[in-house]
Amino acid sequence: MERWLRNFFLFLSNNRMITRLAKKYGFHLGASRFVAGKNIEEAVIVIKELNKKGLAVTLDFLGEFVESEGEARDRVNQSIKAIEFIRRENLDAQLSVKLTSMGLDISEDLVLENMRRILRIAKWNDVFVTIDMEDYSRYEKTLNIFKQLRSESEHIGTVLQAYLYRAEQDLRELHEYEPHFRLVKGAYKESVEVAYQNKKDVDDQLKKLIKIHLLSGHYTAVASHDDKIIEYTKKVVKEHDIPFEQFEFQMLYGIRPECHEKLKDEGYTMRVYVPYGTDWFGYFMRRLAERPANLQFLLKGLFKF
Ligand code: FDA
Repeated sequence: MERWLRNFFLFLSNNRMITRLAKKYGFHLGASRFVAGKNIEEAVIVIKELNKKGLAVTLDFLGEFVESEGEARDRVNQSIKAIEFIRRENLDAQLSVKLTSMGLDISEDLVLENMRRILRIAKWNDVFVTIDMEDYSRYEKTLNIFKQLRSESEHIGTVLQAYLYRAEQDLRELHEYEPHFRLVKGAYKESVEVAYQNKKDVDDQLKKLIKIHLLSGHYTAVASHDDKIIEYTKKVVKEHDIPFEQFEFQMLYGIRPECHEKLKDEGYTMRVYVPYGTDWFGYFMRRLAERPANLQFLLKGLFKF
């Protein structure tokens, strides 16, 4: 049943028509537990509360399925506005972007042009930008764009997904770029041809990636809510005397918030991924796929609606 629900929510997350309808008919159905607001002004209130508790943030303006250059430019302007807010309000925050929202499904040149605009403003304001990793059909293109941008900028990092068989090889090959990586299990529905389907295999590969990347000396963001992964990271850090400035933990806004503060209190850098915007549907469906029990928030939202 759990696997069936997971596949069902991942199918919904990839449906353009429902995504549009959800956007049009508003910010409802329990998404507000995981999404910080409809616009940057609302998100800033949440970020300030998190910063006050000593938690750092990475901010994501939600949006997938961008189909025109105009829509992509609008996303670029929103990202630039977010960077300017971060600096003006003196927030402890970075930015996360999805390349589909920068026009990846239109052309790679458009994405490069859009990302270079963002990175120019990011450099002036000293704000770090992470390229989120999307589904496997965009993986190769995303890595190529990352490599190109990394050779031009120090303010860019990306994500590797442990469920992909090739993740370890890519991690090793990318070390020449001195990358800042966020390491995750992976949130999309991928085929058995490219990805492990079994939790233990994914967990084992994530542990492997964490150890290799930490020992390489490059910055490592361990993005997981899984206690076993967090404990494993602490163990490697301790055994190999990894400096606390070389890694951080990351978790999603609204998920296990008690752990965010606990890790911060133990002295670790803890960064919360804070999404905002009206294009919340795909993001919310992936959170349901990870944990069908989150359906309760959708049901409560429906009841209020
Ligand atoms: P796992 O799924 O095994 O969960 C461990 C425990 O955490 C669960 O038992 C539950 O208690 C809690 N939990 C996990 N998910 C939950 C949820 N949705 N609701 C409530 N509780 C939950 N993926 C990707 O493909 N590309 C990306 O760019 C990113 N970026 C990213 C950034 C950050 C900051 C995080 C934390 C995660 C991502 N991800 C991602 C998502 C990631 O790939 C993965 O799908 C989720 O983090 C869930 O996996 P866990 O490692 O948390 O473990």
